[in-house]
Amino acid sequence: MSKPKVYVSRIVPEEGLASLLEFAEVSIWQKKESMPRDLQFKLFEHCDGLLSTLNIAVNAELLNACPSIQVVSNYGVGYDNIDVAACTALGIAVGNTPGVLSETTADHAFALILATARRIAELAEWVKNNNWTPEMGYLDKLGTDVHHTTLGILGMGRIGAEVARRAVGFNMRILYHNRTRNLKLESDFGAEHVSKNDLLKQSDFVSINLPQTQETLHYIGAEELKLMKSSAILINTSRGPIVDQRALLEALESGQIAGAGLDVTDPEPMRGDNPLLALSQVTILPHVGSATWQTRTKMAEVAARNLVNGLSGKPMVSCVNPEALGKGRYAKMRA
Ligand code: GLV
Repeated sequence: MSKPKVYVSRIVPEEGLASLLEFAEVSIWQKKESMPRDLQFKLFEHCDGLLSTLNIAVNAELLNACPSIQVVSNYGVGYDNIDVAACTALGIAVGNTPGVLSETTADHAFALILATARRIAELAEWVKNNNWTPEMGYLDKLGTDVHHTTLGILGMGRIGAEVARRAVGFNMRILYHNRTRNLKLESDFGAEHVSKNDLLKQSDFVSINLPQTQETLHYIGAEELKLMKSSAILINTSRGPIVDQRALLEALESGQIAGAGLDVTDPEPMRGDNPLLALSQVTILPHVGSATWQTRTKMAEVAARNLVNGLSGKPMVSCVNPEALGKGRYAKMRA
């Protein structure tokens, strides 16, 4: 029997793909630039599975043009690039890679908390530009403490929980807002479940750890920013559109809040002339929350395994729409 055909839409650590390379006939898009949309239709047309990356919009139009695709395995925990409802309607299983990147992303959220509070990027640049002289005094270049402050976590999933775990080491008071309470986390880390508004009013650092959905679009906008302390710092390591970036710029320029550390922006990539980049109290990074060699390799392993298992009718490591397994293409191919 011939092997299933799979396309990988961007280069990922190849050692993580071992199980897939053995199981399927795999093509990998080798170029640095994103695959042009018209080529996506052409190259995926005869594929049984797709290892998709965030730059590929997996929607009904694409899937209808690729009638053999039964499994879409996204390289990441977030899958806002995928129209899951369309996949489910067609009987296409969607996989993602939760868990393996939680700690790395939480490390990164903390890196942004520390970098913004202690002005790390700004001051490193300042030294590089030969500004450090003996005149530098004890009132120059002051930052703000992280330890013994209050951290508010919006979204207490796996990544939020890892952010909380790290905050304990900094003796922070931990507030969180989530649809459901997590009593274990409350007892393990002393986290307090509060309303969104109370969290915004009381926190010194607000960390956004939510998925991007219709409900979380501009979850932090002008009204929310108004509630925050003028000394507060906003951290976003989830998705750019969760924050109304125009409102954020205004809040920073007017001193409504003190700073922001953003790993994600709207749109991405952010252009170099974006006014947020001109503000010294803002640290912006290019969406690298999971960007360590170890974690990106583990993500490839999970994404590969999702395809191998999904295409062989076995339970996927993580399937976000299990209801798709019993219908449409997925059921037909296995009948
Ligand atoms: C990265 O942003 C991911 O969703 O894994």
